[in-house]
Amino acid sequence: MTVTPTRSLTPAAVPGIPAGFRWGVATSAYQIEGAAAEDGRTPSIWDTYCRVPGAVAGGENGDVACDHYHRMPQDVELLAGLGVDTYRFSLSWPRIQPGGRGPANAKGLDFYRRLTDTLLEAGVTPWVTLYHWDLPQELEDAGGWPARETAYRFAEYAQLAYDALGDRVEHWTTLNEPWCSAMLGYAFGQHAPGRTDLPAALDAVHHLLLGHGLAARAVRDAAGSRPLELGITLNLGTADPETDSDADREACRRADGMGTRLYLDPLVHGRYPADVLADLAAQDIELPVQDGDLEVIATPLDVLGVNFYRGALFSGVTEDGSPTGQDGLPVTRAVERDLPRTAMDWEITPGSLTDLLVRLQRDYGLPTVITENGAAFDDGPVTGGAVHDEERVRYLADHIAAVAAAREQGADVRGYFAWSLMDNFEWAYGYDKRFGIVHVDYATQVRTLKDSALWYRDTVRLTRQAAR
Ligand code: FCB
Repeated sequence: MTVTPTRSLTPAAVPGIPAGFRWGVATSAYQIEGAAAEDGRTPSIWDTYCRVPGAVAGGENGDVACDHYHRMPQDVELLAGLGVDTYRFSLSWPRIQPGGRGPANAKGLDFYRRLTDTLLEAGVTPWVTLYHWDLPQELEDAGGWPARETAYRFAEYAQLAYDALGDRVEHWTTLNEPWCSAMLGYAFGQHAPGRTDLPAALDAVHHLLLGHGLAARAVRDAAGSRPLELGITLNLGTADPETDSDADREACRRADGMGTRLYLDPLVHGRYPADVLADLAAQDIELPVQDGDLEVIATPLDVLGVNFYRGALFSGVTEDGSPTGQDGLPVTRAVERDLPRTAMDWEITPGSLTDLLVRLQRDYGLPTVITENGAAFDDGPVTGGAVHDEERVRYLADHIAAVAAAREQGADVRGYFAWSLMDNFEWAYGYDKRFGIVHVDYATQVRTLKDSALWYRDTVRLTRQAAR
């Protein structure tokens, strides 16, 4: 893995990016919409979790967020002005199907019909994610993702959404980052619903994948002969060994197994990885697989969405050299490197994105789109109508170059969406971490293009022109 040297920050055409490559920006419903109790929307697990003392930095929540629900036309104008051709956003399940059961809520659907129509009028392609973490609270009360029933509820909701929007939306993503839903939500207690139960989290993994497969089938059936590009988005990285030792290589096998292969092997190859199942069995954990589930999970995908933030280095021993941790399990320890970091304290590793994309091509063979990539930095305040976020420009430039490098090495990468269009509710970090290429003043809801937005706009334009 090599770290790409910093390049010039003046916008220029990115070599190796063909005409037809998709350029976009991404957001998600709970992070931007606000209007949490309007037009029939009921609480999701995030509304509930935000009220748990200490769960979210500053006790913040998504009640208002970027107020996008009320400012949608201006926000579409803003993103269309950047010259992107695609906007990735998510649908709020509790807005469309309050409580997670029963008929669709017409007012909820109307909002997304207006949004998609406004995008289409502006020449921007809508790219819809069905689930970006906002499970209706009632479904959590009935067992949440660890319960098999939730997978069936999800497929029913997917059907409602497709029936309403399928005539105008062609690009559908089932789940965003099921690893985060399962592990951060049910094992580590860092995301809603805040549980710390590893076996339940593994049940959630299987039921999320099953829900994906059932929803994929429902959407494919409903689409019939309409054009459809169907996918799932995973958060993926690379796992490199700190040394060549067996212990370090085993640590990477485990990290890659739990982070990547546990999802992609069943999705693409129709089987769970045997080594991961064996590791889980050693902890008395068994996935709740029933006959026929794997065929459903392996319903063909048109595209794999990749959310990339960083790669990691792993060691198989503790800092004092022990191969076993306090829990009696083999050690899988991320080793910190002396690299530049973002405000999330995440190491900046653009070279890992190239490595990842080339590996995904080799092992899974699907076309990919980068459905999220970006960084939080402590942006200065708006001065003279500008935000000089040079570090974000550098981050985007280096990662887009990493995508071009992967393409050169044969990876079929077809698009890049910056996370995020605008600063927003960054989950357990509240509003403190700003990922936007557009600055949001939460007191006034004024949007200001950061230098990175201007840089992205010009880079997209110049790259398209050069490819023509
Ligand atoms: C991803 C999430 C997205 C955002 C970024 C920073 O894991 O999908 O909502 O929070 O991280």
